[in-house]
Amino acid sequence: MATAAAHRTAGTQRYDGREAAEGEQDAYQRAFDAAVAADERIEPRDWMPEAYRATLVRQIAQHAHSEIIGMQPEANWITRAPSLRRKAILMAKVQDEAGHGLYLYSAAETLGTGREELLDKLHTGRQKYSSIFNYPTLTWADVGAIGWLVDGAAITNQVPLCRCSYGPYARAMVRVCKEESFHQRQGYELLLALSRGTPEQHAMAQDAVDRWWWPSLMMFGPPDDESAHSAQSMAWKIKRHSNDELRQRFVDICVPQAESLGLTLPDPDLKWNEDRGQHDFGAIDWSEFKEVLKGNGPCNEQRITQRTRAHEEGAWVREAAAAHAAKHSRENPESRESRETGAQQA
Ligand code: 3HC
Repeated sequence: MATAAAHRTAGTQRYDGREAAEGEQDAYQRAFDAAVAADERIEPRDWMPEAYRATLVRQIAQHAHSEIIGMQPEANWITRAPSLRRKAILMAKVQDEAGHGLYLYSAAETLGTGREELLDKLHTGRQKYSSIFNYPTLTWADVGAIGWLVDGAAITNQVPLCRCSYGPYARAMVRVCKEESFHQRQGYELLLALSRGTPEQHAMAQDAVDRWWWPSLMMFGPPDDESAHSAQSMAWKIKRHSNDELRQRFVDICVPQAESLGLTLPDPDLKWNEDRGQHDFGAIDWSEFKEVLKGNGPCNEQRITQRTRAHEEGAWVREAAAAHAAKHSRENPESRESRETGAQQA
């Protein structure tokens, strides 16, 4: 039987450039299947089916793009935060999102796809980012609603990804989820302050929740019977739960939290179902979701224009960093050599 150890050996040989000889491919596949079945992690040097690799690159890239595009709607409020404390918190949060993007682009790099290529696909519309970031942040309360609902949905989706079968993605998710928990709490606390404030502040919090609720439910992706990738991704243990399962979990978490906040979720059909032990909720407008994915959301064009401009304006930083690294390795060939040797030994 193909063991996990055989799987590691086979993978390393493949990584070193030797194509699987005839007859070996099946053994590699069996070893990969055994490792997934045994809940072991697949690591970058392991052999993996090309479709598994492509699925991971697709999902991790979309995730990374979402993190960096997601900086825009909130950064919009940094200069207008109502106090120094709120401003410092928001700046820290937006910086965290940039960091999440970096971990994720690095995870994609371990699969052999460089950041430049992925960013080019984002800028030219060949790869997606989360639908949620195509909605505008109209008031300060939107910062709270994003923290509570958008980061809350992200945590619900991403905690199971800490057990994803691909090691570098799973490990990146552990830190991301810890930081997302802080983001969710800051959003909740911000909304609570507004909800308990003046009638105008309460109304502002309610209006933000009214606008962000349904798009947050769409973050989990299309319904299961329309989800192209779920079945295969779950078989590979990349995804651990279906889109609808996670959406339901999120609704059940939010209902009591909305009550504590003193805010109403904008769904007249939302009610506890004793038989299912879960909440029933109203129909999601999937035509809106599809339009946003096609590029017709309220802010799609603005988000990509701004992202592309930031990338172009940052070219000199990348060039300077590359020149510095080249100079450093010319001046210190030994330190480079010892780093490389050390990395091989580790
Ligand atoms: N927005 C944009 N595209 C979406 C989407 C959404 N909310 N939900 C699904 N899609 C896309 C898929 O990428 C896929 O497109 P493709 O075939 O062109 O690649 C298509 O719709 C079909 O959907 P599937 O359900 O078949 O796709 P998946 O199996 O990949 O499931 C997913 C979608 C649940 C989003 C999954 O990819 C996932 O869990 N991704 C990792 C988490 C992630 O990307 N989160 C982004 C949220 S925002 C965030 O994390 C930032 C934080 O700061 C808030």
